[in-house]
Amino acid sequence: MPVVVHVLDHPVAAAALTKVRDETTPNNVFRQELERIGTLLLVEATRALPTNQVSVRTPLTTTTGHVLTHQPVVVPVLRAGLGFLNAAQVLLPGADVGFIGISRDEVTFEPKPYVNKLPETFEDRVCIVLDPMLATGGSLAHTCTLLVDAGAKGPIIVVCALVAPEGIATLRTTDLDLVIYTASMDERLNEHAFIVPGLGDAGDRQFGAA
Ligand code: PRP
Repeated sequence: MPVVVHVLDHPVAAAALTKVRDETTPNNVFRQELERIGTLLLVEATRALPTNQVSVRTPLTTTTGHVLTHQPVVVPVLRAGLGFLNAAQVLLPGADVGFIGISRDEVTFEPKPYVNKLPETFEDRVCIVLDPMLATGGSLAHTCTLLVDAGAKGPIIVVCALVAPEGIATLRTTDLDLVIYTASMDERLNEHAFIVPGLGDAGDRQFGAA
């Protein structure tokens, strides 16, 4: 299935990305700048959401307006995906929010799921997965497989601050139908499966080491 990657080319995103990459950036600033990246990515990621025409009465006249045809389902991948949740809820105040918790095993790099709290039905609603980092792709593949098993229809929209080429290549070997929005396709993974140049661990840098 297709895995399409859009790399955002935007000066404000580039400046925010530089801040989050900087190892001297404190956690509070890291969270602010990560959220800024999330907002910019989500504006692009929601551009094709379908709308219905409605009539709206202004103080002067009646004109044509638009409403979203369906409210999306937003799914932050715990922990790091929480850093994009506020941006998503500001843009999509009517969206339902599901939660997937996954930690990556530090030795095998395999995803270890620990939370699965998704809406009961997806119907025709667009699913938007939030995770700042896509390294090996294991966490995202696991998350999206859970979503498809729960009834989500593709393409699933994915919002990542950074992606690694190795993770994208792995996702392209799966059956997943994904459209990924990112601020950077980084160079590679290192021997610990960390993205290089990267930004370190997005969960630890927002919430402290765990
Ligand atoms: C990080 C990141 C992704 C995952 C990416 O989470 O936020 O979820 O690793 O790696 P992968 O593509 O190789 O699966 P982590 O496991 O560090 O948990 P955290 O968000 O709680 O820090």
